[in-house]
Amino acid sequence: MEFSELLQARYSVRAYLDKPVEPEVLQAVLDDARHCASWSNTRGYVLAVATGERLERIRADYASHAETVSGMLRGRPGAFLRALREGKLPKADFKTWGKYPPELRKRQVANGKRYYAHLGIGRGDEPGRAQQVRQNLELFQAPVGIFVFVHRSLLPFSAQDAGLMLSTLMLAAANRGLGTVAIGTLATWRTPVEAEFRIPKDYGLITGLALGYPDPNAQINEYRAEHPPLTLAEPRDG
Ligand SMILES: Cc1cc2nc3c(=O)[nH]c(=O)nc-3n(C[C@H](O)[C@H](O)[C@H](O)COP(=O)(O)O)c2cc1C
Repeated sequence: MEFSELLQARYSVRAYLDKPVEPEVLQAVLDDARHCASWSNTRGYVLAVATGERLERIRADYASHAETVSGMLRGRPGAFLRALREGKLPKADFKTWGKYPPELRKRQVANGKRYYAHLGIGRGDEPGRAQQVRQNLELFQAPVGIFVFVHRSLLPFSAQDAGLMLSTLMLAAANRGLGTVAIGTLATWRTPVEAEFRIPKDYGLITGLALGYPDPNAQINEYRAEHPPLTLAEPRDG
């Protein structure tokens, strides 16, 4: 495939075949991903790569938080207090919930509307929406989960570097017929990952990523987000 075609064909994959990713293919993707630019070449991120039983334990741990996340994401009154009472408050390194600035909120809402319309989930369909949150927390049943930690002392540059690496990784995966989706929701809790990996001090979980072979028959994989032109600043007169 032409490189531009590959770029334009990539999309967030949210349903996967029940097929493991061959270890050598996963390694090749990780090897491609290291060839990205970085702030003073510091590469201030650490990846926790989970497959097999380790990933199943992580998935189950995340799924046990599904109800709390649903309530909070939906802004349900009392959801936060209930989570506090039940000892289920998020243990996030970075806040994944809360208000967006108005001009960006517009984009988030527009994408959410198109996405849920595609899935046939209406505004008031609480079970349908809760099921979506659960699927996020279960990494859409992908056979590989990658959790990205960034150095807190080099923020925002470590986060910028992690983004460059992730984009490279997503394209390297697409080049090998694999699908990916970043899942920021997973950063709401670091405990499921920390129970399975030694995370160096000073690193915070910024996002998870699902990776695997896309299910070609899943309707959810037919969704395509809009990719409008990049926002350019107006040049000043003169
Ligand atoms: C850091 C990051 C976190 C994301 N978190 C989620 C998520 O929690 N759940 C989800 O379904 N998609 C998530 N996405 C996917 C975006 O919604 C998606 O990239 C965007 O709508 C553009 O669509 P495309 O990737 O299909 O081109 C995330 C993307 C990024 C870059």
